[in-house]
Amino acid sequence: MKVKANEALILNGKYTARNTPKSIVLVLFTLLLIMLPLSLMRNSNESSPTISTINNSSENSTEVKQCNIFSGKWVPYPEGPYYSNDTCHWIINEQNCLKFGRPDREFLHWRWKPDECELPLFNATQFLQLVKGKKMVFVGDSVGRNQMQSLLCLLSQVSEPEDISLKYTSNVIYFRRYYYADYNFTLANLWSPYFVKASDADPKGHSYDSIMKLYLDEADEAWADQVEDFDIVLISAGQWFFRPLLYYENGQLVGCNKCGKENVTNLSYIYGYKKAFRTAFKTLINLKKFKGVTYFRTFSPAHFENGDWNKGGNCVRTMPYSKEEVKLDGFVRDAYLTPVEEFKAAQKEATKKGLQFTMLNTTEIMLLRPDGHPNNFGHARDKNKKYNDCVHWCLPGPVDTWNEFLLYMLKLEQTSSGSKL
Ligand SMILES: *[C@@H]1O[C@H](CO)[C@@H](O)[C@H](O)[C@H]1NC(C)=O
Ligand SMILES: *[C@@H]1O[C@H](CO)[C@@H](O)[C@H](O)[C@H]1NC(C)=O
Ligand SMILES: *[C@@H]1O[C@H](CO)[C@@H](O)[C@H](O)[C@H]1NC(C)=O
Ligand SMILES: *[C@@H]1O[C@H](CO)[C@@H](O)[C@H](O)[C@H]1NC(C)=O
Ligand SMILES: *[C@@H]1O[C@H](CO)[C@@H](O)[C@H](O)[C@H]1NC(C)=O
Ligand SMILES: *[C@@H]1O[C@H](CO)[C@@H](O)[C@H](O)[C@H]1NC(C)=O
Ligand SMILES: *[C@@H]1O[C@H](CO)[C@@H](O)[C@H](O)[C@H]1NC(C)=O
Ligand SMILES: *[C@@H]1O[C@H](CO)[C@@H](O)[C@H](O)[C@H]1NC(C)=O
Ligand SMILES: *[C@@H]1O[C@H](CO)[C@@H](O)[C@H](O)[C@H]1NC(C)=O
Repeated sequence: MKVKANEALILNGKYTARNTPKSIVLVLFTLLLIMLPLSLMRNSNESSPTISTINNSSENSTEVKQCNIFSGKWVPYPEGPYYSNDTCHWIINEQNCLKFGRPDREFLHWRWKPDECELPLFNATQFLQLVKGKKMVFVGDSVGRNQMQSLLCLLSQVSEPEDISLKYTSNVIYFRRYYYADYNFTLANLWSPYFVKASDADPKGHSYDSIMKLYLDEADEAWADQVEDFDIVLISAGQWFFRPLLYYENGQLVGCNKCGKENVTNLSYIYGYKKAFRTAFKTLINLKKFKGVTYFRTFSPAHFENGDWNKGGNCVRTMPYSKEEVKLDGFVRDAYLTPVEEFKAAQKEATKKGLQFTMLNTTEIMLLRPDGHPNNFGHARDKNKKYNDCVHWCLPGPVDTWNEFLLYMLKLEQTSSGSKL
């Protein structure tokens, strides 16, 4: 397959293109390392543990009822999104679907309706009051950053932060930090798509399908050395684990995913994916000074149809699926459940240490939104783009719902810990 010059640059990404602003686009393409035949999605039903939540936000905050906000459906919402590409200047081109000519608007007119309660609208003032004096960080890949950018837009209705990235890093493409002076609130992201130490294994350098080495039992210090400072940690990862990888444990090569080497054991992507999450959670639990709340956002499904991501696959739908049309199954179910199992084990350990681990269980919800991706409308037209993006989410778009969930959980946290709002 041909990779044009600017794409090669982009695809080289973090490892070779640190100094080029264009590399911001990389994340998108590198993350497209997924093949997701929709045929993989079929019936499955899991029991859904309920989550203790606030019954009624206008009500007595001591009264708490069970409501699983992650179980529900998308319902029409004529009012539309909180912001537009004209009112929010934080939307990067890759996710600025309106700016780049996406013709349909229906995807902006749906809201998540939990079965047992209402999901309150995002209230930027309330959010900022809740996080006043705190530091929040997104750890992981560019889908996590996608949520951070949604949050920047949602908050911009009330407050604009100062970009203080350069005070902390020279790599401002991958590591961003914003400061809301009015609220003494810091919002940051720490780029670490594998959570563990990684380096190129391919002597020819980094490209979208080159082999990388993962040191599965060694946390990537890009986040591990900094996360202790934060009060609220949102952690997520996914797509990068599907590429060719060599796995190291105790410094020894133990196997690989799609490496095509005859003398190396094929361990599949699940092996590395599971262990990397294990290491990430363990790292958080064992940090000496860490007192923060950890939110683990579950796997964000891609929606390529009519071909794999690198074979003309696209996502042209303009409507959500109904629950009858698509089920969490096959590949997506594995990609969802593998870290969830690690999370549940880690949550027990965390609780023992007085740390709070909470899940943002968004996989199935987003599986219903094939209409939410940029497809070919998330980029500058002149970039000669070759692949469609069915991994990230348009802004505005259904990813804004993740921040409605986040606000809900923060309120819940505040309520249950008894402090005042
Ligand atoms: C996540 O949400 C889905 C959909 O409501 C549910 O089936 C599943 O059981 C939930 N998983 C967990 C671990 O809560
Ligand atoms: C909780 O909300 C439900 C409606 O969603 C209502 O029927 C119930 O009375 C509320 N309970 C309390 C304690 O407010
Ligand atoms: C919330 O509580 C108030 C006061 O009890 C009640 O009037 C209202 O109907 C409740 N709303 C919901 C959605 O339960
Ligand atoms: C709020 O809770 C307190 C203590 O449980 C109770 O006395 C009071 O009546 C409640 N208020 C409302 C409006 O439900
Ligand atoms: C926002 O999108 C519209 C198309 O919906 C476009 O005309 C406009 O120029 C865009 N604005 C910005 C600031 O990108
Ligand atoms: C948003 O939250 C603030 C602070 O809690 C409150 O004063 C305001 O009324 C809320 N706005 C809406 C539209 O609910
Ligand atoms: C801002 O918050 C930090 C904690 O995140 C705290 O250490 C600092 O004292 C606060 N500064 C002000 C001016 O309130
Ligand atoms: C696998 O074989 C290659 C040569 O084909 C050799 O360079 C490499 O060291 C071998 N690796 C292991 C783990 O034995
Ligand atoms: C490697 O393992 C995976 C899953 O176990 C399997 O799907 C794949 O075909 C295997 N590949 C090779 C080259 O053996």
